[in-house]
Amino acid sequence: MIFDRILGMFSSDMGIDLGTASTLVFVKGRGIVLNEPSVVAIQKGTNRVLAVGEEAKNMLGRTPGSIVAIRPLKDGVIADFEITESMLRYFIRKVHNRKALIRPRIVVAIPSGITEVEKRAVKDSAEHAGAREVYLIEEPMAAAIGVGLPVQEAAGNMIVDIGGGTSEVAIISLAGIVFSRSVRVGGDELDEAIIQYLKRTYNLLIGPRMAEMIKINIGSTYPLEEELTMEVKGRDLVAGLPKTMTVNSEEIREAMAEPISTVIEAVRISLERCPPELSADLVDRGMVLAGGGAMLRGLDKLLSEETGLPVNIADEPIESVVLGTGKVLQELRFLKRIEVDEKSTL
Ligand SMILES: Nc1ncnc2c1ncn2[C@@H]1O[C@H](COP(=O)(O)OP(=O)(O)OP(=O)(O)O)[C@@H](O)[C@H]1O
Ligand SMILES: [Mg+2]
Repeated sequence: MIFDRILGMFSSDMGIDLGTASTLVFVKGRGIVLNEPSVVAIQKGTNRVLAVGEEAKNMLGRTPGSIVAIRPLKDGVIADFEITESMLRYFIRKVHNRKALIRPRIVVAIPSGITEVEKRAVKDSAEHAGAREVYLIEEPMAAAIGVGLPVQEAAGNMIVDIGGGTSEVAIISLAGIVFSRSVRVGGDELDEAIIQYLKRTYNLLIGPRMAEMIKINIGSTYPLEEELTMEVKGRDLVAGLPKTMTVNSEEIREAMAEPISTVIEAVRISLERCPPELSADLVDRGMVLAGGGAMLRGLDKLLSEETGLPVNIADEPIESVVLGTGKVLQELRFLKRIEVDEKSTL
């Protein structure tokens, strides 16, 4: 304990997973210290931040006219620069030990689709928030390291990270991404598909939070031994009144079929484009699923059936990326090798 505290005085290096759905922070020697939705509530017409994280998420869809709850990262890219910066700063300050004598080094995992300007913005905001050095690492690389894949070996490793805004597939060997594919389909798109389905089929209008609950409670991608049901509350579009009805897992599976097939397609394409030597490795090693979407019932089974490869689900899929940034902090030399070069197109 005392040893920990003394160490903490000298350094509080941190790793951050800046995700579309949630942001997680890992502090060296302490583990994961923050896991909050990437949501910011601001005063309408201004950039005045009223709440960040959990508190702001609860406001989504429920705000009075003068307040808007924003998700500054959307579809795996930064939709709102300034708000992203405010959010990042808020989270860093929240966990940063102000008494630390040395300013922290920060590793930030970024969606692979972001632009050079956005990378600069992420670096700047981490620096403004007190970072001494900022390193950026691509999400799939961080996820692969986080789940414990031997990324430095000269052998193929495959990671499929299904997040809120994007799904990223990457094949990694010798600490480099050999092939990667990112599709703008993730958990959000599944929620949206459920909303559209209920609207179309039952004239029932539900909000995104209810859609997410349906997906988590009864969502599946493969027939279940025992199909599930759930009571859903929304608004009847014809009568205009609140309505409660029961939906089952079979219809929700059908509702999500299209976005799920996009993810499967991305995995197939990655396998098709994979150099043959690495393909051979993957036959035995298979792929690891990470990100919140990895917890979708039956996705491992479906992917295994579609590809013929073994599919494993990460132990803590939502934490994989941030755990990867944490591991990378321990070994700076390695970090320097895999860090996203600001001019590289990776
Ligand atoms: N048990 C579950 N079953 C299915 N989906 C889930 C489950 N738990 C969480 N999710 C979904 O996972 C998504 C969030 O995953 P994650 O935290 O990995 O995303 P992110 O890293 O913030 O996003 P991105 O990587 O796209 O930037 C959300 O869409 C959420 O609804
Ligand atoms: Mg993610």
